[in-house]
Amino acid sequence: MNHPAPDCATPVAPIGIFDSGLGGLSVLRAVRAHLPEQRIVYVADSRYAPYGQRDDDFIADRTLAIGEWLVAQGAKALVVACNTATAQSIEFVRARLPIPLVGVEPGVKPAAQQSKSRVAGVLATQVTLRSARFQALVERHADDLRVLCQPGHGLVEAVERCDIDSPALVALLRGYVQPMLDAGADTLVLGCTHYPFLDAAIRSIVGERMTLIDTSVAIARQLERVLDQHGLRPATTGRAAAADVRLCSTSDGTHLRALAAALLDIDAPVERVQIPSRRTRELESDAA
Ligand code: DGL
Repeated sequence: MNHPAPDCATPVAPIGIFDSGLGGLSVLRAVRAHLPEQRIVYVADSRYAPYGQRDDDFIADRTLAIGEWLVAQGAKALVVACNTATAQSIEFVRARLPIPLVGVEPGVKPAAQQSKSRVAGVLATQVTLRSARFQALVERHADDLRVLCQPGHGLVEAVERCDIDSPALVALLRGYVQPMLDAGADTLVLGCTHYPFLDAAIRSIVGERMTLIDTSVAIARQLERVLDQHGLRPATTGRAAAADVRLCSTSDGTHLRALAAALLDIDAPVERVQIPSRRTRELESDAA
């Protein structure tokens, strides 16, 4: 259940957007396009990415700690711009934060609506694909659609190092996507927010044979509905200046800055932030 927005949450407060790393920038891009008046604080937990190889408790622990940190920064709503974190922890975190949350999930529903061949591929992290939330999503929406699930091992790591088009990356992607084409898939669900940045690389393999499903625009619309429900939209409209996006990273932020500049045209410095949590304190004390 969602708590009501706290008294301090005002329409001019920023929206918090969080991902394990750089992938949530694809959601930030859609939010900026759809809600240009909104201020944004973005957190990339790049120090601990990828989450797709972490255990469930680690992911819930990080998602809650970063959500609490964003609340302390004055965020009025939180977008968990990570399919993996949403799949594992959104209910747990929603029950503990005093602001409304919006999560993301692979676009199985639009795939079922659009596929003509009735075969669709879903590329997502292993954690997302094995989650009960994803299984329920497929059961709810797939109907007669054959869903081919493929873990995208190595893809998050590639985007995190700003590799979106190297020959090695294209070869890795081909290994994931070609079997889907061979099985007759005409639709590919990008079930991880890092993957829209691989759009051109995927297109170079599949050409026009597949429709790529990216849910970031739908997420921005859902955020708009949630803000309206809670009376959290500013009365004025107009594009926010680039200064109204605050970029934060738990790592050194070089790649976050580079990707935000290259793909979103946001030239903002990246703040390195410390967001300790139970599990990272354990990791650090083990390493000491
Ligand atoms: N962008 C995250 C997602 O949507 C990547 C998860 C990871 O770090 O493995 O799932």
